Amino acid sequence: MKWVGRCGECQTWAAVDEVGVAGAASVAPGQVSSPALPIAAVDADAATTHATGVDELDRVLGGGIVPGAVLLLAGEPGVGKSTLLLEVAAQAGRRGQQVLYVSGEESASQVRMRAARTGAIEDTLYLAAEVDLAAVVAHVDAVKPDLLVVDSIQTVASRDIDGLAGGVTQVRAVTAALVRIAKERSLPTLLIGHVTKDGSIAGPRALEHIVDVVLQFEGERSSRLRLLRAVKNRFGPVDEIGCFDLSDEGIVEVSDPTGLFVSRHPEPISGTCVTVTLEGRRPLLAEVQSLVTAAGNPNPRRAVSGLESSRLAMLLAVLDRRAGLKLGPHDIYASTVGGATLRGPSADLAVAVAIASAATNVPVPGNTVVIGEVGLAGELRQVPSIWQRLCEAARLGFTRAVVPRDHRERRPQRDLSGLQVVECPDLFRALALLNVVGEGSVRLPDDLRLG
Ligand SMILES: Nc1ncnc2c1ncn2[C@@H]1O[C@H](COP(=O)(O)OP(=O)(O)O)[C@@H](O)[C@H]1O
Ligand SMILES: [Mg+2]
Repeated sequence: MKWVGRCGECQTWAAVDEVGVAGAASVAPGQVSSPALPIAAVDADAATTHATGVDELDRVLGGGIVPGAVLLLAGEPGVGKSTLLLEVAAQAGRRGQQVLYVSGEESASQVRMRAARTGAIEDTLYLAAEVDLAAVVAHVDAVKPDLLVVDSIQTVASRDIDGLAGGVTQVRAVTAALVRIAKERSLPTLLIGHVTKDGSIAGPRALEHIVDVVLQFEGERSSRLRLLRAVKNRFGPVDEIGCFDLSDEGIVEVSDPTGLFVSRHPEPISGTCVTVTLEGRRPLLAEVQSLVTAAGNPNPRRAVSGLESSRLAMLLAVLDRRAGLKLGPHDIYASTVGGATLRGPSADLAVAVAIASAATNVPVPGNTVVIGEVGLAGELRQVPSIWQRLCEAARLGFTRAVVPRDHRERRPQRDLSGLQVVECPDLFRALALLNVVGEGSVRLPDDLRLG
């Protein structure tokens, strides 16, 4: 037993009462909803997925939506949640399904205007602008939909429950009620939930355990690219991502996103380097760009975009101590292309090579990718799914890949034709191999000659 002074939900002081659990030890048998069955007799069809028709969404869901499943699509305002689910609703309508789209955010005519813009006007797609839970249930009774969309869960409230719409108590209660309806009627239900930059605010986080699937929709405001990833999925994997392009005409799937994060130069340019990253299980090309200039003041700048600044600091130290690249008095900028985010160490080599190339003003040879983590001793370390990354590089016509030595993963029987894979033990050998060395700036190991 613990004293709780403040309510965890509404943050009011001295509002928590102790509720007895008397009688918990002796429970009388109650009504069962359906008898227990031998496992082989249970209908497995009820848990099979049905494609939504939006392939990138289906990929993330591991096939599609399960009847009666409740999915929460979380994302920041303006990322494109309404646009995406209106498209899903329209696709279902096109297949002849009855769809009910409940909008608590926008008026029905606003949604209709969006639908006109994105080509989502279908005969069996019903719109209702509603913020009261009981009214939503009445609409469900009237339309008898095969798919329900609620935009957004924060705008719907129940009169039977205290608290403001969007508060944790309301959001939880409304979601729980919609989950019950979804299960009773085998009605697949898609909920939209807002999150703010810090991922908090009443909603998505508090709902994760109530719903079956939680999807996160992400993207920079400055870029049209949107990534969809599963945070929780009761019916499938959580390591796939979906890629979309958000434009005036709505949201378009990008089934081959590779190349989105690289800029194609006719001639190699110094300070740029291409790597292959993994988003979920999907290999994606990514380009790192760097600029190194003499600092105009005693405090040189270190600026990153799409990269981790702690990783940059570490790589600069390694370039300094292990490759003799003295960059102390320089301003250093490093960024990704197209709003990509490279987290973790697997982009280390690309970042280090881009910086060295910027510093020496020697471009990395064209059609080359580099993949690897850089250790503090300057050694190159293996990264996960190296062969998958190399296959993608080969598929896209790259002719040379510089990778760490000592693969723990067995080489698959896949075609890497045209791609020369060069295994390199450490960073300075990699720089030398790529010829990214300037006059006296990168100290070459004795056993290597410039080619
Ligand atoms: N009339 C319009 N023409 C072009 N783009 C629009 C229009 N209205 C909204 N958008 C853009 O569509 C994007 C997605 O909007 P929306 O789907 O409503 O996002 P969310 O539901 O996640 O808040 C927004 O970034 C917005 O800038
Ligand atoms: Mg919206």
